[in-house]
Amino acid sequence: MNLQGRVAIVTGAASGIGQAVAIRFAAEGAAVMAADTDKQNGHQTVERIRAAGGRGEFVQLDVSNSEQVTKAVQQTIDVLGGLHILFNGAGILAYGTVLETSEEIWSRLLAVNLTGTFLCSRAVLPHMIAQGKGSIINVASTTGSHDACAHAVAYVSSKGGVTLLTRAMAIDHARQGVRVNAICPGPTDTPMLRKALSPEQLEAFAKTFPMGRLGRPEEIAAAAVFLASDDASFVTGALFYVDGGQTAEV
Ligand code: NAI
Repeated sequence: MNLQGRVAIVTGAASGIGQAVAIRFAAEGAAVMAADTDKQNGHQTVERIRAAGGRGEFVQLDVSNSEQVTKAVQQTIDVLGGLHILFNGAGILAYGTVLETSEEIWSRLLAVNLTGTFLCSRAVLPHMIAQGKGSIINVASTTGSHDACAHAVAYVSSKGGVTLLTRAMAIDHARQGVRVNAICPGPTDTPMLRKALSPEQLEAFAKTFPMGRLGRPEEIAAAAVFLASDDASFVTGALFYVDGGQTAEV
């Protein structure tokens, strides 16, 4: 168990990548605060953690709301007795060119994907700095960090922001013992992708990549465990591509 005795907050823990990370962190011995706007599925994540013998709690949280974020972080420390890891997994997706993207969609996407990552990081940092140790793991994407893709300006911009926010925070807090890294997943089989594309489109999409398949949320979670653990003690500011070879080819 790589995360024995650690406490982690995982945002976006009700679904997809965040859910797989919450479950895997708990299996590695961490006490997990599963945070999400989605109460019903968030509680299911916690039930799965407990059924497997792990320790988990749920907090309903909109990562774009700084007051809720501050409260959730304090609640984690009070209830689970510490805080060592933040996994910023909450995210939303919208498609459209600049001409097709309303100000409302642009603002909401940036508020959740980029400002949410900033707010959650800002809330955990004082605690991590005080203890001289912490690991923040952001979720960027292949798109927005390595390349752009068509018809997704708000999403690509948000992930570009997350990429450089990661590197900037890594530099600022390296000497305080806080490591900040980003996982850049390739297309991963989650409800987000399944809402965006039909099964036929997904299959055709997957075939365009070197491995010829989508990633599984559990494969992203395995990378998150490494970045959260002491095995990654010299790793900060990294963009960790977990993409089945996608960016090797682009
Ligand atoms: P998902 O839609 O399955 O899960 C996202 C979770 O975030 C949901 O449970 C949702 O309720 C939660 N969420 C949304 N807005 C929130 C908010 N304001 N506050 C708190 N929770 C909120 O999506 P998936 O695929 O698991 O995505 C997770 C992250 O991975 C996102 O940042 C996404 O952009 C990123 N990503 C996903 C890829 C994929 O192919 N699925 C590829 C690259 C990156």
